[in-house]
Amino acid sequence: MAAREGEPIRQAVEELTCFLGMRLEDPAFLADPYQCLTPAVRERPVHVLPSGAVAVLGHHACSHVLRDGAFGQGAGELYEMTLLGLRARSLLQLDPPGHTRLRSRIARHFSTRRVHGLAESVSAHSNALLRQCPQGPGDFVPDFAEPLAMSVISDVLGVAHEHRTAFHRDARLVVQGLDQPARSTDDRAIAQARFRFMHYFHQRIKAWDGTARDSSLNALLEGPEDGTRDIREVITTFSLLLSAGYDTTVSLLSHTLAEVSGAPCGRGWALARDPGRIDAVVEEVLRLHSPAQVAPRAAVRDTVVEGVKVARGTIVLPLLAAANRDPAVYDEPDAFRPERHLASGPAAARHLAFGAGAHFCLGAALARLTAQHALTVLADRPPQLTRQPRLYQNNVVVRGLRSLPVTWPPHHESAPATSSAGAPLLAAPACPAPAE
Ligand code: HEM
Repeated sequence: MAAREGEPIRQAVEELTCFLGMRLEDPAFLADPYQCLTPAVRERPVHVLPSGAVAVLGHHACSHVLRDGAFGQGAGELYEMTLLGLRARSLLQLDPPGHTRLRSRIARHFSTRRVHGLAESVSAHSNALLRQCPQGPGDFVPDFAEPLAMSVISDVLGVAHEHRTAFHRDARLVVQGLDQPARSTDDRAIAQARFRFMHYFHQRIKAWDGTARDSSLNALLEGPEDGTRDIREVITTFSLLLSAGYDTTVSLLSHTLAEVSGAPCGRGWALARDPGRIDAVVEEVLRLHSPAQVAPRAAVRDTVVEGVKVARGTIVLPLLAAANRDPAVYDEPDAFRPERHLASGPAAARHLAFGAGAHFCLGAALARLTAQHALTVLADRPPQLTRQPRLYQNNVVVRGLRSLPVTWPPHHESAPATSSAGAPLLAAPACPAPAE
């Protein structure tokens, strides 16, 4: 049987989990991979696995690997084989020159100015979803996080409103087929959805009349200056935007809600209502619950990382999740402490949730804006966490919640008003005295 796409990465991650004494698909590991990642990063920053693959856990070492041209994919153009044994299907799997060329074509569509232009729409989607959530028991992931992430991606891809219901259905299946063994639906349904997804963009490309210029899709369709346009490249890029942006944003939104609602004495919501601190809240969630746990690379030449020799072709796993809780960089790395991002100096060390170097996440500004605006809207009708268990996705690369049970409050309840300086006018509920 032919090897499945993504298999070498999955095997290496599986080996790492085993090496750390757990099983990849164990619900206990999915719920809390840090129980083995944190002791491993404390032990040493770089671990050589029995197969020869190298797991990089320390913050400094991860940052080095992500920024150093000695680590990459080994493919310079689309559809070449990478050193990880995969066919390069997007810019994420390319090294220069292909990466530089493709990235420069789409980067300007993710500039801060462009992204800020989406703010109103993110708030409108969030408000509409919140209005739809009936009072009582609910699940934050399907009720709010998933539909919001999908609407935002649809805005970015320029999907027309009349096509969104069908598009969302197919796009969800396409995403399910990406990260093995996440497949809960049969392969055939996924293959059909993938076909319709590509067909949709083919049709859009064929029908494009060169006038509308307001979305990424249209901008990409304009093609390079010389008028040439590679349809495969365009479709590949749209697939990447969906795959890179959907699960990760759902994960960020759900973990943000979990941390903010779970903080004692209403402290989380008080911070979320403070315009001067809301960005620190989101940064801390990104650090503490890195949606992308690993950013796989191969050594493209013989090299060394933290004194460990790495031969060309070696699979290298920079574990962003471990690096973001490296005790050598963060005090109390497992604690939710947004204020650490307000400090300057080493205490504010940059987390690696969006990667670093040439492949730094193109959607970082959009993801931050989405989480901040969603949180602002949710603060008007904050759902409460329940005691029911939360469930995690069975994914290799992206760690995200599949279910986060909540209770939605009545619609008429509104949040305490905030002063113009952002401080809550009504005090958060008093914390009960700690038990003796
Ligand atoms: C919380 C949300 C997100 C997280 C945590 C995240 C994380 C990451 C990480 C870690 C990388 C680098 C991977 C590597 O170096 O191998 C990356 C790359 C990328 N991300 Fe994101 N991402 C998020 C949201 C988004 C969104 C919303 C979009 C666009 C709609 C997006 C588009 C991309 C693209 C295009 C790349 C590839 C960049 C390149 O290869 O040059 N991401 N992301």
